[in-house]
Amino acid sequence: MKYCLLITATLFLLGCSPQNEPFDMGTTKAIATGSTKVCLDCHTKKTPGIVASWKSGKMAEAGVGCFECHEADTDDVDAMDHFGNTIAIIVSPYDCAQCHSTEAEEFLGSHHAEAGEVLGSQDNYLGEIVEGYPASVSGCQACHGSYVKVEAGGGLSADTWPNFGVGRVNPDGSAGSCSSCHSRHDFSIAQARIPETCGKCHMGPDHPQLEVYRESKHNIAFQSHGEEMNLHGKPWVVGVDYSAAPTCATCHVSETPNQPATHDPANRMSWDLKPAVSVHTEDWESKRNSMKEVCTNCHSPQYVDQHYIQMDAGIELYNEKFAKPAGEIMSALRSVGLLDSIPFNEKIEWTYFELWHHEGRRARNGLAMSGPDYVQWHGFYEVAQHFYVKLVPEAEELLPGVTGEVLARPEHSWFSGEMSQEIRAEVTREYKDKY
Ligand code: HEC
Ligand code: HEC
Ligand code: HEC
Ligand code: HEC
Ligand code: HEC
Ligand code: HEC
Ligand code: HEC
Ligand code: HEC
Repeated sequence: MKYCLLITATLFLLGCSPQNEPFDMGTTKAIATGSTKVCLDCHTKKTPGIVASWKSGKMAEAGVGCFECHEADTDDVDAMDHFGNTIAIIVSPYDCAQCHSTEAEEFLGSHHAEAGEVLGSQDNYLGEIVEGYPASVSGCQACHGSYVKVEAGGGLSADTWPNFGVGRVNPDGSAGSCSSCHSRHDFSIAQARIPETCGKCHMGPDHPQLEVYRESKHNIAFQSHGEEMNLHGKPWVVGVDYSAAPTCATCHVSETPNQPATHDPANRMSWDLKPAVSVHTEDWESKRNSMKEVCTNCHSPQYVDQHYIQMDAGIELYNEKFAKPAGEIMSALRSVGLLDSIPFNEKIEWTYFELWHHEGRRARNGLAMSGPDYVQWHGFYEVAQHFYVKLVPEAEELLPGVTGEVLARPEHSWFSGEMSQEIRAEVTREYKDKY
């Protein structure tokens, strides 16, 4: 006994802990399999961070351990023998589905799970060819997902892994990665509900949802009252369990008094604002009503309807005044052979791409989620600039007269000076009166 104390005291003074000490279960419940105990004994020393994170999560409490998630069959493509146990590195949606079938099914049916399928897109041509490999590996694929390749022995190829893209194509054939939103190893529900989680991907010049949110009154309310929002709570019903502010999750996926939480954000979307010209989604009216039901827990129905009136009007303005005419001009150039079939090898193709894919999306996202600076200076201002002083002169240089018909329309008449003096005077009068 004395020796034991002496040895322990010496080890303590030397700053090291006794080796081979079994994992301290603490408050963690009994672990379902003996194999997990083996993982813990070793990983507590090898990767203490992983074990500590897992231990702080709800699944450790419930007895879901390392082996319950990482277990593999010997005939799985990515199976590896790991100190006597057969495991896989990737824990795919099919693995999580064993215990969370509803969430997994909804997720697998969503656009998120399809996000890895960008191969045929214009963006992909830009990333893979124009910019070049490996820009797309750490760029596009980090958000959209890689096609994970397995090497001999079950290891994963560095071309495709690590990767947490939301539409990752996994070795077992499943699509997606639950850890895009549920960071390992605590898989905290509170973390999934904060805006930064979605903003990992939903940000930047072409889809600045995080930046728009940050500019909104909703974020101001979240910053000042976030700690009162019971973010760990189950259930988490807007207007019942919290009411201070909505986060991305509140509006797009979480529970309301009349709707269950969903892992398919499309359920509440009435527009698709991604394409050059915005289009309504299928069955858009009922999807819009689902979103409105979220809002009306905190706002009057009139307030919400009027927000949608302003949003629709802005989207129509973008579609009709800029997106469709710009598309018509591009088609006119293409139809007479002035643009070849190679994407992005002509200046005007970059101009047009930025008009809809960058500035146009910025304006539309600003309209949808109350980001005035994204509607105006990062949005319509740049759309107008791209249209009038880039696209139009570039098109005229290629084919004189090609923009004539478009510019003759009343909404563009100001450009050629044909707008009546009276209207112009009226627009500037108010401003002059002020100074
Ligand atoms: C005897 C120690 C030991 C045991 C037991 C052990 N591991 Fe590991 N594990 C390691 C080490 C060391 C690594 C680092 C990579 C390597 O050497 O394979 C690792 C790596 C891993 C990896 C990542 C592999 C990669 O290539 O990125 C996973 C996943 C993993 N372990 C899970 C488990 C699970 C699950 C168990 C229990 C079934 C377990 N480990 C048991 C020591 C151990
Ligand atoms: C709820 C399921 C789950 C549990 C429980 C779990 N893991 Fe994981 N683990 C994952 C997921 C998900 C990933 C990320 C890979 C992916 O996206 O599929 C991962 C990745 C890993 C990796 C590779 C990444 C890295 O950072 O090196 C290691 C190592 C690992 N786990 C070890 C463990 C150990 C040790 C335990 C037990 C303390 C454990 N895991 C428990 C789901 C789980
Ligand atoms: C062996 C069954 C099992 C597997 C496999 C499993 N889970 Fe769980 N999960 C549970 C249980 C049990 C709970 C706890 C339920 C509770 O406390 O309400 C839970 C809770 C959760 C929670 C809520 C955490 C919180 O903070 O409230 C999330 C998120 C979650 N799991 C995600 C995943 C993901 C992602 C995977 C796959 C990588 C996965 N689970 C795999 C059984 C499992
Ligand atoms: C920062 C994360 C991120 C990066 C990097 C990224 N994307 Fe995206 N991408 C997204 C998000 C988020 C959306 C959805 C935007 C929306 O709904 O407004 C999207 C949308 C798309 C779409 C439209 C999908 C559809 O259904 O209409 C394509 C195609 C696409 N991205 C391809 C790419 C390619 C190719 C690259 C690399 C050149 C890339 N993306 C880089 C996050 C990213
Ligand atoms: C796009 C982000 C995202 C992805 C991807 C995602 N989740 Fe979630 N998940 C969330 C959010 C947000 C919540 C919280 C919803 C709420 O407020 O109740 C959640 C909640 C959960 C819960 C807790 C449910 C409850 O109330 O107990 C489980 C379990 C879960 N997710 C499993 C999964 C699984 C399994 C996958 C992969 C098949 C997955 N999630 C993929 C965002 C995501
Ligand atoms: C790892 C990257 C990533 C994360 C994290 C992520 N998304 Fe996405 N999201 C995407 C991509 C990529 C798309 C476009 C998918 C497509 O159309 O191919 C998308 C599409 C969407 C859409 C459009 C709906 C639809 O069905 O077309 C909504 C809404 C959305 N995400 C909301 C969220 C919310 C809310 C969160 C957080 C809880 C989140 N996303 C987290 C990458 C991500
Ligand atoms: C107050 C509610 C609310 C909040 C908070 C919110 N959104 Fe939205 N979001 C909307 C509405 C409303 C739309 C337009 C819906 C429609 O099409 O009918 C929208 C549109 C979108 C779109 C679709 C853009 C497209 O290209 O079609 C994405 C993606 C998205 N939001 C992601 C996010 C992310 C990420 C966050 C957090 C950073 C967030 N939203 C915060 C209500 C919200
Ligand atoms: C959880 C409560 C909550 C939900 C849900 C919610 N809001 Fe809000 N909203 C607020 C609060 C709080 C403010 C700030 C009020 C103030 O500043 O006086 C606000 C402000 C606004 C504003 C003022 C815009 C600005 O940024 O200046 C608009 C517009 C708005 N909300 C629309 C919506 C719409 C549309 C939805 C649903 C898609 C929605 N809200 C959902 C709480 C909520």
